[in-house]
Amino acid sequence: MDDLIKKAAKDLTGAKMVAALTGAGASIESGIPPFRGKGGLWEKFDPMEVAHIDSFLQDPVKVWNLLIKGMKDVLDQAQPNDCHKGLARLEELGRLQTVITQNIDGLHQLAGNTDVIEFHGTFASQRCMECNAHMETRRVDMSEIPPRCHCGGILRPNAVFFGEMIPQEALWRSRQVATDCDVMLVIGTSAVVQPAALMPVVAKESGAKIIEINPESTLLTGDISDYLIKGPAGEVMKDILAQMEKML
Ligand code: OAD
Repeated sequence: MDDLIKKAAKDLTGAKMVAALTGAGASIESGIPPFRGKGGLWEKFDPMEVAHIDSFLQDPVKVWNLLIKGMKDVLDQAQPNDCHKGLARLEELGRLQTVITQNIDGLHQLAGNTDVIEFHGTFASQRCMECNAHMETRRVDMSEIPPRCHCGGILRPNAVFFGEMIPQEALWRSRQVATDCDVMLVIGTSAVVQPAALMPVVAKESGAKIIEINPESTLLTGDISDYLIKGPAGEVMKDILAQMEKML
């Protein structure tokens, strides 16, 4: 493990352009549950029933009550952890350019990263299904479900439901970043949801080194990733940063 921390510190220090791809595991230490695995949201709910656009269109009250309302309570409390802070510090050191995140919690921006691609959109705002007006989630009146826009239309999170397209700009920029980087950190993602999971493959095919940080191995491990640092993202990022600061 210590050897891999040193290796990662060296790889990050020597790289010209570093990108990170993060998933739910990056925010677990902030108290946000993941989707898959033990304690994951999809253990409690069938994603096709609560997180598919067709389910939302069919029964928005059900999806708001089962999924979205609870999500708001959790995200309202969440603060960046050592993983987010480590990635912000990497940017400050000039060692990280872009974070591509599948998370909708806004914690990378809160920690200080300035170029964050929100691959699955964001929970910070809602939009009206009728007039497309946007509203900050914290200003939305949730005393009645589903919450409504001034025009009477139903509000929905500005996040991607299953069955929807990835925002075009996010997809286009992510592919570009994956093609251009020479090191990609892949942190806390099971890498089973496409097309996000393709980004490390694009990076690898373009010659980048792929460093995974995850307590478990994933579909990428041993094939796409060059090495896996097994452990919680916050702890590992802290160790890598400490090692890098020694090398400065
Ligand atoms: P998952 O819930 O599928 O995977 C979470 C990953 O985090 C797993 O690989 C865990 O092993 C790992 N993990 C657990 N604890 C960790 C820790 N402390 N530090 C680092 N890693 C840890 O989450 P995602 O891969 O992000 O999409 O899921 C991808 C997409 O599936 C989500 O964006 C969401 C979901 O359905 C949509 O809602 C469209």
